[in-house]
Parts: sequence; structure tokens; C-alpha cells
Amino acid sequence: MTSYIVLLGPPGVGKGTQAEILSAKTHLPHISTGELFRENMKNDTKLGREAKAFMDGGELVPDSLTIAMVEGRLARPDCRSGAILDGFPRTPVQAEALGQMLARASQGIDLVSFISAAPGVLVERAGGRWTCVAQGHIYHQKYNAPKASGKCDVDGSDLVQRADDSAETVRKRIEVYLEQTAPLVEYYRAAGKLVEIDGTQPIDLVTKALLAALGAKG
Ligand code: AP5
Repeated sequence: MTSYIVLLGPPGVGKGTQAEILSAKTHLPHISTGELFRENMKNDTKLGREAKAFMDGGELVPDSLTIAMVEGRLARPDCRSGAILDGFPRTPVQAEALGQMLARASQGIDLVSFISAAPGVLVERAGGRWTCVAQGHIYHQKYNAPKASGKCDVDGSDLVQRADDSAETVRKRIEVYLEQTAPLVEYYRAAGKLVEIDGTQPIDLVTKALLAALGAKG
């Protein structure tokens, strides 16, 4: 059975954390558009240079660049059985494009999981986040601390803070989310795909709710 799962929600709510866990449990690839852009920036590609100014300012990267990048990633063989999409789609144009991409492959979205939390929670989570340089594994200094300070538990690489996690940029990202991404909640609710999950719960309880939603979808 194929499964395309979208994790929708504001910045810092825990989409990447849950996508990593779900990917390990389901063996579906975790596709994070933010991580793909950061990889391109690290490798100084043309796409990375184009995306940088938008990301640094907390704005969305233009739809055309984002959609082309995701289309390329979904065309790879590891996505034949499905994928966990973290941070995509983020605009109505991206949502339409995703629907069309999957329809061309006779597929569709199985579940959209909307994880929510209040802005104060999001700023605290992003402010305390540490990410590994090698593969983007995610930690939090208080809620999900690494075993050895400053080192990734999985691959031992250094942990760094993201350039766009200052309180000011996170607030800007929340504004952008409310304007451009929040409308997708109603879009997917109307399509009968949406499940709402309380993102203020501890990490393991959010996972439990997600797995229950996936199980219910069958
Ligand atoms: P992206 O990297 O996707 O950032 P985001 O959506 O803003 O989400 P975050 O990665 O900040 O948070 P998250 O929800 O994944 O939370 P996490 O699990 O890390 O995008 C960055 C930028 O790229 C965008 O601003 C934009 O410029 C560009 N971009 C990306 N996608 C795009 C698109 N589709 N279109 C256009 N532009 C795009 O958790 C956060 C912290 O909280 C961690 O420290 C974690 O350990 C902790 N935590 C997680 N869950 C819990 C919990 N339940 N309890 C306590 N702590 C928790």
C-alpha cells in the first residue's frame, strides 16, 4: 500500500521531529523542503543561493522553485511507496501542484496531519532547537536533549542552531504561516483528509496520536 502523508503546522511545532520518527517506523522517506533548501545552501548550488534571502528573512521561497524541487525529489525511486512530506505544501498553489503530481502517478494524499500550538510555544521550541550538521537530526536543549552536549546521538556530528531561529525571524515565519499556509487547513478539511493533533503534548504523545490517525486511515 502506498502512503503519502503531509505534516502541516506552524514553524517549530514539531513537524520535523515527528517526520523523523514516522519515517523510522514506516520506512517511508522523510521529505523536508526546509532541509532540502538548507542542503542546497550548504552546497552553494544555484537553488541554494536563490532560496537564501527568502529563508533568512523568514519568507517563503517562491512556489515555482519549491514545486520544481519537490517534483524532482518525488520522482526518485524511494518515493514509489509513498513519502512523509514535512513543510510542503505551504501555499494553495503548492497544494494544487502536489495533487496534480500525485494524480499523474495515479496516487493521492492519504492523510494531512495538522499539528498546532500557540505562538509562545513555537518561539520557545525554535529558540532551543539544535540540529545536526550531517543529517539534520533535531534536538531541543530542554525537551529532547542529546546524550552528549553539542553532538548528535545518531551520527556524532556537531549540533548547530539555525540562522532563522532568532525570536524575531520565528515571529515573522509565524506571520507568513498565518497568511499563506493556514488556509490549507480548511482546504484539506474540505477534502476529508485532515486530522488535527494537539502539538503542545510531549513528543511521544504527539507520535501516538499520529500513529492512531494513520491506523484509522487504514
Ligand atoms: P522549515 O525548515 O520547513 O521550517 P518550519 O516549517 O518553519 O518548521 P521548523 O523546521 O521550524 O519546525 P518543525 O515544525 O519541523 O519543528 P521541529 O520538529 O524542528 O522551513 C524553513 C524555511 O524554508 C521557510 O521559512 C521557508 O523560507 C523555506 N521553505 C520551506 N518549505 C517551503 C515551502 N514549502 N515553500 C516555500 N518555502 C519553504 O521542532 C522544533 C523544536 O521543538 C525542536 O527543538 C524539537 O526538539 C522540539 N520539539 C518538537 N516537538 C516537541 C514537543 N512535542 N514537545 C517539546 N518540544 C518539541
